[in-house]
Amino acid sequence: MGSEEEFKIEMGASGSLTKIYHNKPYPTISPFRPELSSKGKNVVVTGGGTGIGKAIAIAFAQSGAASVSIVGRREDRLVSASKAIADAGVGDTRVLYRVADLTDSSSTQAAFKSVADEVGKIHVLISNAGVLGKIGPVASVNVDSVMKAFDLNVRSAFNAVQAFLPLAGNEPVIISTNSAAIHIPPIPGAIAYTASKLAAYKMFEYLAAENPELRIVQIQPGVVATEINEWMAEQDRDKDRREYYYCHKKQSRTRTVADQFVSQLNFQDNSASG
Ligand SMILES: NC(=O)c1ccc[n+]([C@@H]2O[C@H](COP(=O)([O-])OP(=O)(O)OC[C@H]3O[C@@H](n4cnc5c(N)ncnc54)[C@H](OP(=O)(O)O)[C@@H]3O)[C@@H](O)[C@H]2O)c1
Repeated sequence: MGSEEEFKIEMGASGSLTKIYHNKPYPTISPFRPELSSKGKNVVVTGGGTGIGKAIAIAFAQSGAASVSIVGRREDRLVSASKAIADAGVGDTRVLYRVADLTDSSSTQAAFKSVADEVGKIHVLISNAGVLGKIGPVASVNVDSVMKAFDLNVRSAFNAVQAFLPLAGNEPVIISTNSAAIHIPPIPGAIAYTASKLAAYKMFEYLAAENPELRIVQIQPGVVATEINEWMAEQDRDKDRREYYYCHKKQSRTRTVADQFVSQLNFQDNSASG
């Protein structure tokens, strides 16, 4: 188990424990709510040229941030995303982009410093850039390829944090885009992604413990149709197969998670009575 094909089926079939799927901000989290305003805040989003990072950047512009800066390697994506972010903004949010390879600490620091030179202290870091990494079973996957996922999902998060902290303004906030995949039973073939995202999760947990003044939130967005999941479009062509696996896996996965939850509760009950 764990081949690329098996991974695609398993991943496409991942169940959800929530009844409602959202594809845009719903009223509770609407960036237009005055109490959620980011007025006066300078925000940097890594991987903000595409997908989830771009959507986060748009939401910050809609909530009135002073500036939103996006960082990535492909300038064409950054240019088109900057336009979309500026067009979506409702106030006078400044939109900047910086081309940088986040796996390189000097490149990352130069990007953050040049943003701060233009806008001042940075208040919010969205550590969002990530890759899926090589798919393959632990027993035979190419280890150098697995380490490449660690390079982006772990090293780049370290680099972004270390570039951000010396430039951070008052009440600094870090939001890390992590993944539900680190909390559910193994998805065979996905070791590069899940192990590296779990390592990043721990890094932010330590950062929070060591720096109580930082507000750090780690989010798990669920499965979203972005470039990281381009293979899903392929799978959509085989609708019957997808639906079959969806129902089958949804039930078994939900049961597994529910069982784990119940055994955890039982354990807590036992320890309380013992
Ligand atoms: N989509 C999902 O279903 C899902 C689910 C859970 C979690 N996530 C997480 O969400 C985050 C965003 O992913 P996405 O789904 O929006 O996919 P995406 O569109 O592929 O976004 C990844 C971003 O990371 C940037 N990036 C990759 N390598 C980089 C590097 N070396 N230096 C700088 N930037 C780099 C990419 O830009 P360049 O290639 O131009 O550099 C791209 O903008 C990731 O952390 C992912 O793990 C996604």
